[in-house]
Amino acid sequence: MNPVLLKEDIYWVGAVDWDMRYFHGPVYSTHRGTTYNSFLIIDQKITLVDTVFAPFAGEMLERIRKIIDPSRIDYIVINHVETDHTGALPELMKLVPQAKIFCTARGKAGLLKHYYGEWDYEVVQTGMKLPLGRRTLSFIEAPMLHWPDSMFTYIPEEELLMPNDAFGQHLASSFRFDDEVDNELVMAEAARYYANILYPLSKMVLKKLDEVSALNIPISMIAPSHGVIWRDNPGQIIEAYRRWASGEWLPKAVVVYETMWGSTAAMARAVVEGLGAEKVAATLVKASIRDLNNIFTELLEARLLVVGSPTVNRSYLSVLSPFLDELTGLKPVNRLGAAFGSYGWSKGAVKNIEAKLEAAGLTLAGEGLEQLWVPDAGELESCYEWGRALARTVKE
Ligand code: FEO
Repeated sequence: MNPVLLKEDIYWVGAVDWDMRYFHGPVYSTHRGTTYNSFLIIDQKITLVDTVFAPFAGEMLERIRKIIDPSRIDYIVINHVETDHTGALPELMKLVPQAKIFCTARGKAGLLKHYYGEWDYEVVQTGMKLPLGRRTLSFIEAPMLHWPDSMFTYIPEEELLMPNDAFGQHLASSFRFDDEVDNELVMAEAARYYANILYPLSKMVLKKLDEVSALNIPISMIAPSHGVIWRDNPGQIIEAYRRWASGEWLPKAVVVYETMWGSTAAMARAVVEGLGAEKVAATLVKASIRDLNNIFTELLEARLLVVGSPTVNRSYLSVLSPFLDELTGLKPVNRLGAAFGSYGWSKGAVKNIEAKLEAAGLTLAGEGLEQLWVPDAGELESCYEWGRALARTVKE
């Protein structure tokens, strides 16, 4: 349990959670675990920036003890109240009851309502500076990135930004820095993280990026609260956030479907062929056997989402409900949608899927496609042509 040096006298003292498989309850799958990053600054005022999830309090304290006695900590900065970053705070406060806690006004309210601690709080706002000795902490409030209480902490003398959840990845690793792990893997996990947590907050992400850019502060290292620290090329993740938040897209499609006796599956395959014929790369996803979190990640690039289901009880198959419900919450930016499916004695699936797509902010790319019972060769040809027509809309 050793600390890791970031900059002179600044250490990572967090924890690696190799076992975390779901985050935010059973909503967001985290196949690669995660880390809880906490940073210790040794200066005239010894300062800890963020803590870790409660079960890892001992691990954090052990790393701190390799550097100093934790009771010597003067200041604790809480960038964000969520329990994965503050769960260890009560344990820590038993050792340092005199320490002053710096957080936003909403952060203080949140901490009081989580832990009910009689602690010494100081509320900070954007632009406030906290001298530590050789270094200064500068605070930037970041409401809704991703909670109302969130803020970033910046150390100008080190060009180091500690933005808590922003720019993070759920990625457990033996390594702490971006240049020590595979870049494609880190970016894929960063994208997955953005799509499943920050997507609905994209307008605020863009605003914050502009605000930070206008501050004209040099940033040579970004140390988020999850995953690896960006020291090799921090600009890479900033640019990716700008791209994702602004809704840039590629001529790609995701076709998500579920089937009862194979008719909707046959339609889905024909639609994918039609998309491909017009050079729109499509991923075909059977909802019941795939990780739906990956679909949201694909939507960071894909312009079009096509959803298919047979009609059952006048609507779509319920296995699609978690995906469609989550979609309406995540609200992908600047995306097109379309619906299709087979039916028997009554329709309903397409209409209800279209309503969900529109509720999620997608623009319908064309009329939905419904076919009776089992599609024949001519009807499958219609699916193919429908896919081609959608592809042409994608590229318009
Ligand atoms: Fe919003 Fe990593 O917690």
